[in-house]
Amino acid sequence: MAGSLGFGMELAGRKALLTGATGGLGRAIAKALAQRGASVALSGRKGEALEALAAELPGDGHRVLVADLAEPGAAEGLAAEAGAVDLLVANAGLPGAGWLLDFTPEQVTRALRVNLESPMLLAQALSPAMIERGSGHLVFVASLAGKSASPLSSIYNATKFGLRGFSLGLRPDLAPKGVGVSLVSPGFIREAGMFADAGAKAPPGLGTGTPEQVAAAVVKAIVEDKVEVTVAPLRQRVLAHIGLASPSIAIRAQSGSAGQKAAGAIADGHSKDKR
Ligand SMILES: NC(=O)c1ccc[n+]([C@@H]2O[C@H](COP(=O)([O-])OP(=O)(O)OC[C@H]3O[C@@H](n4cnc5c(N)ncnc54)[C@H](OP(=O)(O)O)[C@@H]3O)[C@@H](O)[C@H]2O)c1
Repeated sequence: MAGSLGFGMELAGRKALLTGATGGLGRAIAKALAQRGASVALSGRKGEALEALAAELPGDGHRVLVADLAEPGAAEGLAAEAGAVDLLVANAGLPGAGWLLDFTPEQVTRALRVNLESPMLLAQALSPAMIERGSGHLVFVASLAGKSASPLSSIYNATKFGLRGFSLGLRPDLAPKGVGVSLVSPGFIREAGMFADAGAKAPPGLGTGTPEQVAAAVVKAIVEDKVEVTVAPLRQRVLAHIGLASPSIAIRAQSGSAGQKAAGAIADGHSKDKR
């Protein structure tokens, strides 16, 4: 886990915008934010599921903002509807899993918009009010796939490497203005979310994390103003660092039969409606 610049923010009484709230990780994040006293604007494409989640959350002031972030202009529209929030948790994501040539150009564009462009545009639209108040926090849910590439993940890797670069680059620009920027980088997450939904297994010996650990990492990132919080067992974290420091070694290791098998199972498991 990387260090802190020392701002940090308590969550009680804060207004948060959470994208991807209906997903496996989003639900856990929504709960964790609400449990600590934040009121959460829950966003996703499915109004009914969002309403049901809002009704389940502790505390009050929760809202539902339906938006399809793959549509042009949707991120700007969502930011305008959300109004002045203290916190953004940009968590919506598509798995972008599979062989590049199996994607239509439109599917490539959707993955880029949802995973990368929307978080950037939301940050751009929401940060001026935070700068004016001299306080706020932006959290981007990336992935270890933003540090280390793997087979059949070129589109997903591209979006998560991009999101990581965006967050790390934006942090020093906003820090002097009192606004924190953090990355939360999960590895394989069990029980719920896109990896669990794919029904695939993590490569042997790598282990998995839980949605609740991701939610706790989001809270920690905000409260302690962390640069990045990684949510994965030690082995996954070490391998991701090797991938970052020495891509050629990582690509050779991941292209072996175990790596190819795991990547193929993950790509096959992702339903094609998540494109
Ligand atoms: N699960 C893991 O193992 C894992 C590991 C590393 C990183 N992550 C990252 O964690 C984040 C959450 O993933 P998850 O596992 O919770 O996935 P998930 O269960 O598939 O949920 C994805 C969320 O993104 C939203 N979304 C998808 N397309 C959208 C669109 N066009 N417009 C608006 N919202 C859209 C979905 O909402 P609707 O379908 O309701 O619109 C859903 O709430 C993602 O950024 C993912 O890359 C996950």
